[in-house]
Amino acid sequence: MTTKAVCPGSFDPITLGHVDIINRAAVMFDEVTVLVTANPDKPSGLFSVEERVDFIRETFDSRIKVDWWSGLLVDYTTAHGIDTLVKGLRSSLDYEYELPMAQMNRRLSGIDTIFLLTDEKYGYISSSLCKQVAKFGGDVTGMFPEHVGRAVVEKYAQ
Ligand code: PNS
Repeated sequence: MTTKAVCPGSFDPITLGHVDIINRAAVMFDEVTVLVTANPDKPSGLFSVEERVDFIRETFDSRIKVDWWSGLLVDYTTAHGIDTLVKGLRSSLDYEYELPMAQMNRRLSGIDTIFLLTDEKYGYISSSLCKQVAKFGGDVTGMFPEHVGRAVVEKYAQ
């Protein structure tokens, strides 16, 4: 049986923290899909969904699948026969945020969520905090994949 997992998120844009979790998930599952998903609490992003998907495609080789979805996450996973979600946990704050989503997704479709603890190197990295650093001209080296970091800096320079 092929084991399949989805790493869902808004990925606006992907950080090195996300990259680490996705690479670790890829060791654990035969097939990993990174799914750019709408977060209704974050309606207007810095990058379009297409740009976010492109950034992720350019980050990984073809073994990591990349897709996007604008509906309920569990509708995507059920339609694609995927029974595990993988997310990273940086802290107890992430846990408080993730727990109800994991329980809701399980109630809706039976899907399990596996949490990988963020590597300490990336514990302070989030898309929103790193974007804020870039917005005010700070150095974001080592926070995003290089091509993504360049795009973030260019976006704020516009
Ligand atoms: O990276 P984020 O923004 O924390 O990811 C949150 C995300 C996108 C995974 C969550 O908002 C989501 O699953 N959105 C899709 C709509 C959905 O299924 N909502 C119910 C979640 S229990």
